[in-house]
Amino acid sequence: MTHRIGVIGGDGIGPEVTGAALRVLEATGVDHELTHYDLGAHRYLEDGTVLPDEVMEQWRGLDALLLGAVGDPAPGVAAPAGLVERGILLRMRFELDQYINLRPFRLTDRVDFEVVRENTEGTYAGEGGFLRKGTPHEVATQGSVNTRMGVERCVRFAFERASRTERKQLHLIHKKNVLTFAGDLWQRVFDEVAGEYPAVSTGYDHIDAACIHFVERPERYDVIVTDNLFGDILTDLGGAVAGGVGFAASANLNPDRTGPSMFEPVHGSAPDIAGQGRANPVAAIVSVALMLEHLGEAEAAAAVAEACDKPERYEGSTDEIADRVADAVRTSLAG
Ligand code: IPM
Ligand code: MN
Repeated sequence: MTHRIGVIGGDGIGPEVTGAALRVLEATGVDHELTHYDLGAHRYLEDGTVLPDEVMEQWRGLDALLLGAVGDPAPGVAAPAGLVERGILLRMRFELDQYINLRPFRLTDRVDFEVVRENTEGTYAGEGGFLRKGTPHEVATQGSVNTRMGVERCVRFAFERASRTERKQLHLIHKKNVLTFAGDLWQRVFDEVAGEYPAVSTGYDHIDAACIHFVERPERYDVIVTDNLFGDILTDLGGAVAGGVGFAASANLNPDRTGPSMFEPVHGSAPDIAGQGRANPVAAIVSVALMLEHLGEAEAAAAVAEACDKPERYEGSTDEIADRVADAVRTSLAG
């Protein structure tokens, strides 16, 4: 079966790391067909295009999307701040209902956990606005949207994941002592769904405490479930404690498969090192492994993940790393 994959290299180091990841995909021999989309801040600055509706329609018919990074090197100068982040990345997550952002982290046996981040609600839903903008009496509000359905499907996904790990542990992370409405809903849903998974042991930590645990005792965690904004922040920290954000991969999943899922490194477009061939491609390559897993190519997925799991392969340029990993994948799948 040919997997139809849409590729958005995007801005900054996005195209370089995506190119490296595609070389590794090629090395798996898995049958696929690529369609490249030239989108991102660079494209907006060129001709005003953000994300045409026809492109969104084409994406609906694909099996997966692979994204490098989108972001403007000088936000707010030529283009409005956050335009491509909201207009491409968040629109894709929302409209394709990629309601799970799965971010695994592994470095040693002490750092081995995954974060299930809710990906379509919370403060990212864009609720809020200005009142009396630009005056001394200006008001800005930014709400957090938490629906029963949205929280429940995310929590259920996390319990399902935790029920399949060796340790079978799931922590809810929130700030329910202060965010008493949203936190209450999350905890109630968590406790209810927990009743269906007696084999999973559960815990709760406040987000601030979780940050300390990430650094001081990461072995505390197996699977974590949290809301969109907490998950965003916590997964950058996760990247940092797991060897650097250049290794952190993610899957934006539509588990119901009513649309394609999207796979991307957690890092951004890093404009300061763009075009120099020295970006770390490992996060993008591991994202390909997550994509292969989602596409049902378990053997190829395992080969790619394993080939990335060797620190001695991380020396040199973007292309050198990609070639070394691609060779290892070829050898492992041939053997
Ligand atoms: C991420 C990114 C995005 C997010 C930005 C680019 C909108 O930081 O994927 O973690 O906040 O979700
Ligand atoms: Mn982020």
